[in-house]
Amino acid sequence: MDKILVTGGLGFIGSHTVVELQNKGYEVVIIDDLSNSSVQVLDGIKAITGKAVIFKRLDLKDKTEVESFFSKHQDIKGVIHFAASKAVGESVNEPLMYYENNLASLIYILKELKKLPSASFIFSSSCTVYGQADELPITENAPVKTAESPYGNTKQIGEEIIADTCKVVPSLKAIALRYFNPIGAHESVEIGELPIGVPQNLVPFITQTAIGLREQLSVFGDDYPTPDGTCIRDYIHVVDLAKAHVIALGRLLKGNNKSNYETFNLGTGKGSSVLEVVNAFEEVSGVKLNYKIVGRREGDIISAYADTNKANNDLGWKPTLSLKDAMLSAWKWEQKVRGN
Ligand code: WQD
Repeated sequence: MDKILVTGGLGFIGSHTVVELQNKGYEVVIIDDLSNSSVQVLDGIKAITGKAVIFKRLDLKDKTEVESFFSKHQDIKGVIHFAASKAVGESVNEPLMYYENNLASLIYILKELKKLPSASFIFSSSCTVYGQADELPITENAPVKTAESPYGNTKQIGEEIIADTCKVVPSLKAIALRYFNPIGAHESVEIGELPIGVPQNLVPFITQTAIGLREQLSVFGDDYPTPDGTCIRDYIHVVDLAKAHVIALGRLLKGNNKSNYETFNLGTGKGSSVLEVVNAFEEVSGVKLNYKIVGRREGDIISAYADTNKANNDLGWKPTLSLKDAMLSAWKWEQKVRGN
């Protein structure tokens, strides 16, 4: 079976995707610099699939390292590129770190893929490229707006770099997957989200509050023009998201792509408010969550959820897990990590 490189393969979405690739029989090689992940994740992957995976700790900003790696792996047929810095707030304070890390690594990988007889490339993008969309649900044709953060800008620029390269490198085929809000953990409780420090995202903050690691969840604003006043997002189970990557890769490897560069929104198509997520957590966990309403968070958009028709029809992918499935899996994972 084809050899696939997964960069950032020890991260949250990367590790779940490695599991699904191995389940489909692919030979997987992981590159990760361990800046936002732990080498123990390898044990979790092995516990689920029972299959070995080649792991190389490598900084993708090091051009020579990237060249040397690919010289030893000329049989790579595809790359799923997760490796990137992804904290929105941090990117505002450290723009150069974000532009260098997220774009240099992308460019060096593409330069190596250009040398191969053929290559399939899946890019981890984000619904953040849409900003606050004018129309909901959000389709892939929605205008890409001025990024709200350097992080979001690296996703927009990254997509442009890939699109421009695919135009002049016929052997390179690519898909950008624009994730909405990935949450949850693998049902085996062997892998999940491992935020370092205080979580920025809602769901890990909920589970850390429920387990007693955090005092109280702050709900950032309940005065938005939404039914319950809190922001709406499209929360997608990370396992559904991982399976979409394997389907997208297969589309390219089989030559079923309609053009050399395509984009797909990956969401459930259903929006959930912050309070609805809290309620879903309380229902599945039986834990009453300690939270308070505070002021709005700078940069938050009001509402975002995906139009999933293109992914359903062209990719042949549909999410199967619910918000409650995701919240329960996130809770079970939190309890495992905290040893409860
Ligand atoms: C969701 C909702 C918050 C924390 C970000 C990135 C996006 C992608 C996913 C990388 C919002 C509210 C949150 C808290 C809260 N990341 N919230 N209290 O901002 O939609 O997306 O993560 O690709 O690019 O922008 O996700 O989980 O931070 O927030 O009330 O302690 O939960 O205001 O409405 P977001 P989030």
